[in-house]
Amino acid sequence: MSQRYKVYVTRRIPDPGTQSLTSSCDVTFWDSDDAIPREELLKNVKGMDAILCMLTDKIDDEVLEHAGSQLQVVSTMSVGYEHIDLQSCIERGVAVTNTPNVSSDSVAELTVALVLLTARRLLEGAYAVKNGEWGKWKPMWLCGVEMKKRTLGIMGLGRIGYGVAKRMKPFGVDRIIYHDVQKLSFASDFGGEFVDFEDLVKESDILCICCNLNPQTKHLFNKDAFQKMKKSAILINSGRGGVVNHDDLFEALKSNQIAAAGLDVTEPEPLPVDHPLLTLNNCVILPHMGSNTWESRNLMAEIAAENIKTILNKGHPQGEVVKRLAA
Ligand code: DGY
Repeated sequence: MSQRYKVYVTRRIPDPGTQSLTSSCDVTFWDSDDAIPREELLKNVKGMDAILCMLTDKIDDEVLEHAGSQLQVVSTMSVGYEHIDLQSCIERGVAVTNTPNVSSDSVAELTVALVLLTARRLLEGAYAVKNGEWGKWKPMWLCGVEMKKRTLGIMGLGRIGYGVAKRMKPFGVDRIIYHDVQKLSFASDFGGEFVDFEDLVKESDILCICCNLNPQTKHLFNKDAFQKMKKSAILINSGRGGVVNHDDLFEALKSNQIAAAGLDVTEPEPLPVDHPLLTLNNCVILPHMGSNTWESRNLMAEIAAENIKTILNKGHPQGEVVKRLAA
């Protein structure tokens, strides 16, 4: 790149991303591990050719307007891009890129961990030890369920859903069923059966939500869905919080309509500490840490940076959500 383009990065990011950008661009960072306040974002993007953002930054028409007409690309350091107003980007000829592939393994691993954490009541056990509640061995204390002979349901058979199915199969699950917009040929790798949404909720013993958030999936898991689920069912969500109606989930868990839930994503994030779900023993909540591995985060930062350079060089980036209209 002969011209030194101006790039705004909305957070401190892992070194591979920083190094990639600073070698050839004039980079300004929001020098913090915490999210940039909206006013600072609006002020600081002015005159930038590219913005590298996080999933916590709302990139809407106002941000694009403040940046100016020279803005060429919004590159998010995430797979999800529901925080970006794609329509405004299209209208303004701004490219949008994301970081697919690199976090599929870390999120799939976390999802399986959350299944076991929830099904085997491991967090309750760890707290019991800390709180001095570990007495003599009891035959029926903190009993959970095994995976063997269960039906595993996957909502959204993308890379993460696929990774979860492949990892869960060796635990001896009996059936793996999935629902997606269509039947997918690669499900045959683990003997996956395509089912409609109704059968997915009715038949799953463990149901993992691995889909993204869009108008079709918003609050798909609601009172109606929970009423159809088995009383013994365990719901896991590592997709997006908005796919689940949390008020309905609270009622379903409290009334034992379903057995338990493990959530890595919530609505909103962060979940307020006084949220009713946090009062339940049968609900395990993690702070959206699916891709929290150095392997994933280093690569996510590097790819988000490389995507910017590729777009500025008129090339084809790895995760092209919206193509830049020719200037
Ligand atoms: C993503 O990349 O969208 C993840 O949710 C972040 O972990």
